[in-house]
Amino acid sequence: MKISFAEFDPSRRGAIVVGVWEGGELTVPARRIDEASGGAIARALAASGRFRGRKNDILAIVGPANLAAGQIVAAGLGKPASVDARLLQDLGGTLLAHLNATGESEAQFAIALDDGAGVEPAEAAANLAFGAALRAYRFDRYRTKEKPERKPTLAQLTVTGRDPDAAERVYRRFAATAEAVCFTRDLVSEPANVIYPETLAEQAAGLAGSGLRVEILDEDRLREIGMNALLAVGQGSARPSRVVVMEWRGGPDGAAPLAFVGKGVTFDTGGISIKPAAGMGDMKWDMAGAGTVIGLMRLLAARKARVNAVGVVGLVENMPSGTAQRPGDIVRSLSGQTIEVLNTDAEGRLVLADALWYCQDRFKPKAMIDLATLTGAVIHALGNVHAGLFSNNDELAERLLAAGTAVGEKLWRLPLAESYDRAIDSDAADVKNIAGDRGAGSIIGAQFVQRFVNSVPWAHLDIAGVAWSKRDAPTVPKGATAFGVRLLDRFVADVYETE
Ligand code: BES
Ligand code: MN
Ligand code: ZN
Repeated sequence: MKISFAEFDPSRRGAIVVGVWEGGELTVPARRIDEASGGAIARALAASGRFRGRKNDILAIVGPANLAAGQIVAAGLGKPASVDARLLQDLGGTLLAHLNATGESEAQFAIALDDGAGVEPAEAAANLAFGAALRAYRFDRYRTKEKPERKPTLAQLTVTGRDPDAAERVYRRFAATAEAVCFTRDLVSEPANVIYPETLAEQAAGLAGSGLRVEILDEDRLREIGMNALLAVGQGSARPSRVVVMEWRGGPDGAAPLAFVGKGVTFDTGGISIKPAAGMGDMKWDMAGAGTVIGLMRLLAARKARVNAVGVVGLVENMPSGTAQRPGDIVRSLSGQTIEVLNTDAEGRLVLADALWYCQDRFKPKAMIDLATLTGAVIHALGNVHAGLFSNNDELAERLLAAGTAVGEKLWRLPLAESYDRAIDSDAADVKNIAGDRGAGSIIGAQFVQRFVNSVPWAHLDIAGVAWSKRDAPTVPKGATAFGVRLLDRFVADVYETE
């Protein structure tokens, strides 16, 4: 779908979308179209038993008189005071889905708020377009026999307003974000026979250039360095493990970078502690943390973020085989700490242990944030609404919470405490990778990860409940969500790029 910005043209074909305030008052473009069509909108509003102009209210008026347009779509805006960027993104997404289902191939969003409401018109137009771009994502490259009538139809979306050039300028940044989000969604959606450690590393390597450095560490190198915990997870797989290091230097020379670390288990069978068959296919997206870090680094480079940042992703496939690690194995991690692996399905924490240690040791970051589909338990605690946030630093936690609220990728902070940490003391080694059956599984996972973090401000996002969605949301079609790309981009911009 192509998105462009132009002045409103009531004589165009396709669909014309206009805004209506709660209570039924028409916006300026709505009034124009109402007059041009002999009062079609006013009549339809009066006749509708449902449409009140509340947000999410949509009313299609098909075949209006005196217009080339095939339909007018009235979109509820709610009350002027409650219109903000997020509402406009959601509206853009919801309308896009509606239009794609109606068979229209072109449409104008004549909603931009030239007449009141708190959002600047160019910002409003760009946010509408952003929402539509995010919702237009579709992972359909393997659907070779799809019926044409089930395919999305909208090919051209024009967002109108008085100053299209200004809207276009604002949108440029949003477009880069949407591209990074869609890139991450692709990586996460690809099956594990296509995306495995080597190919995911190649995807990251493909982003190198224009200031983004990408380095791939192969198994020989990982062994040399001593990343044995990560290697132990991958040792049962025919696919060799990889670690990818991505560096973006957009800040002052020598300034300590921000670090992002991702769990990249390209498929998690559980290993010898094998998972049940039902739903195991979901474990193709157990690399969502890594996919998000890679997409974020792409975005920071694309928009030339004024910050130094590194991304480190640990890429492994967790398989059962004659070479797989066994429950009870003890491995020496890069940190020097020994780990008793009592459950081979608690593998993400082994990957993070080495990736985090390597990252803080090599880059001395000023803050380090990891993302991981780490525990099923976080779904019991927070469902598919909030990701779990753990941190050793209140200020960092507050800033992440704020960024999440701003972009609509919500976090909920959960505790870390010594009384939980005691549960992973091992009789045979320094630490064991599960606690046994004492509940608080997500906290236990976070405590384990924290054993591999020194005094750097650190946060851990457990995204197991939010990385994949089973139903459509306004700006997130069902499937891979790319949760974290927008959040961390916002976090970087708000916290580190303001002078
Ligand atoms: N990748 C899973 C966590 C997961 C579960 C992600 C469901 C997304 C949806 C992780 O590696 C795992 O298997 N965790 C175990 C930990 C347990 C063995 C302590 C779990 O949550 O059951
Ligand atoms: Mn697992
Ligand atoms: Zn896993």
